[in-house]
Amino acid sequence: MKQVHISTFGCQMNDRDSELIAQVLSAHDYRLTERPEEADLILINTCSIRQKAEEKTYSLLGRLKRLKSRNPGLIIGVGGCVAQQEGDRLLERVPHLDLVFGTRWINELPDLVQTVRQRGRRMAEVALDHPLRYLPSEKAFRPSPIKASVTIMHGCNNYCAYCVVPYVRGPEWSRPPEDIAAEVRRLAAQGVKEVLLLGQNVNSYGAPKGAGGRAFIDLLEQLETIAGLERLRFTTSHPKDLSPDLIACFGRLSKLCEHIHLPFQAGADTVLARMNRGYTRAMYMERIQALRENCPEIAVTSDVMVGFPGESPADFEQTLDLIREIRFDDLFSFRYSDRHPARASGFPDKVPEEEKRRRLAELQALQKGITLARHQAREGTWEQVLVEGTSKKSGGQWSGRTRTNRIVNFPATHLEVGLTVPVFIEKGYAHSLKGRLSPPSGEGRQEDSCCCG
Ligand code: SAH
Ligand code: SF4
Ligand code: F3S
Repeated sequence: MKQVHISTFGCQMNDRDSELIAQVLSAHDYRLTERPEEADLILINTCSIRQKAEEKTYSLLGRLKRLKSRNPGLIIGVGGCVAQQEGDRLLERVPHLDLVFGTRWINELPDLVQTVRQRGRRMAEVALDHPLRYLPSEKAFRPSPIKASVTIMHGCNNYCAYCVVPYVRGPEWSRPPEDIAAEVRRLAAQGVKEVLLLGQNVNSYGAPKGAGGRAFIDLLEQLETIAGLERLRFTTSHPKDLSPDLIACFGRLSKLCEHIHLPFQAGADTVLARMNRGYTRAMYMERIQALRENCPEIAVTSDVMVGFPGESPADFEQTLDLIREIRFDDLFSFRYSDRHPARASGFPDKVPEEEKRRRLAELQALQKGITLARHQAREGTWEQVLVEGTSKKSGGQWSGRTRTNRIVNFPATHLEVGLTVPVFIEKGYAHSLKGRLSPPSGEGRQEDSCCCG
């Protein structure tokens, strides 16, 4: 048996793709190793969303040179979004690299590796019109026995001006709903309690046939009926395609968790228009209001970037203002980074790096206070927690998540991974909640008062 070591950068879709890579290779006599120095094959599944993400690939490749010179039989391959973007250029730039495979070539990996090994030929295979096929997830390759990610779409047609994804993942393609339902049924039968549906823009699942979000709602309704499955989540939603019917699913579908990740990117209309996002600040606010009216408990998280070309101090103030008004549960924030061939890389009025840093620090300090206050507001309440395991970070305590996706740590003696237990929240911290299974003396037992029952 040969050994493969896989390093993964980037988003949840890349994490899921790396599970597939391991699964596909294991059917061809490879087994996973944590130790690159023991591997016969080293693969890097890469991300190119920002310059910094791409640089991680090159610095890892630099460190691997030593292993290759010690073991000439070692094969080094690069897949994912940098591979897709660079193709042959990557082979030219990195002489000790053997294989480059595009984002649609995972199933062919065993053949590609075999060709490199037998013919001693370096190669790149990155055609974007290659047909996609998603193998159903297998237990041995999932990081959790009770949680699983299921990719429902690949690619993106939105062409936000800053974003490289449509170029590296290709046009949108949706998996047939019957394949997804069959996979989720299998997962539930294997003991998976929570499924996360993945796509760059899940709201346009099934488009153009299922335009208006109907195909996605049909899918959610179908998954809702699967016995054994307890929780359903999805990411990412695009504000422009978030329909009233999908908003109404929160609260109507009992398995759909009360959490939405809805990136807003910027608070000023002029910036949103230049970004080609297809919504205004007012439209975004309306959608958040509708979500909260429909399901008051819903947690809202988002993505935002600072320093998009031409973003003025007044535009940035509008971003801060939107954050203050919405009070997100959590926020992922980035400095804008030029990504060729995304259109904004050619826009004038670039914001200096130093100014981007200053804006990001100010924004993150603001959000930190809001997240903490939101966590502290949970003190004294009961939460339904899906138990995920014990965590070193919390000194060996048990750890799990609420339906709103907040991490809860709590002490317990006899527990099982996969159970859902009511936990009394004692303290809110910056990144998690701390609780206990029994109420402090004097406090009556209450049931969780979730809007969606
Ligand atoms: N499909 C998702 C986002 C995918 S990328 C969506 O549409 O929301 C994840 C996040 O990275 C984006 O939401 C954005 O905030 C950030 N991002 C994308 N391109 C970027 C760039 N060129 N510079 C900085 N941040 C970027
Ligand atoms: Fe990128 Fe926009 Fe597509 Fe998201 S919707 S992946 S930000 S182009
Ligand atoms: Fe990165 Fe590709 Fe995901 S660019 S964010 S790994 S789709």
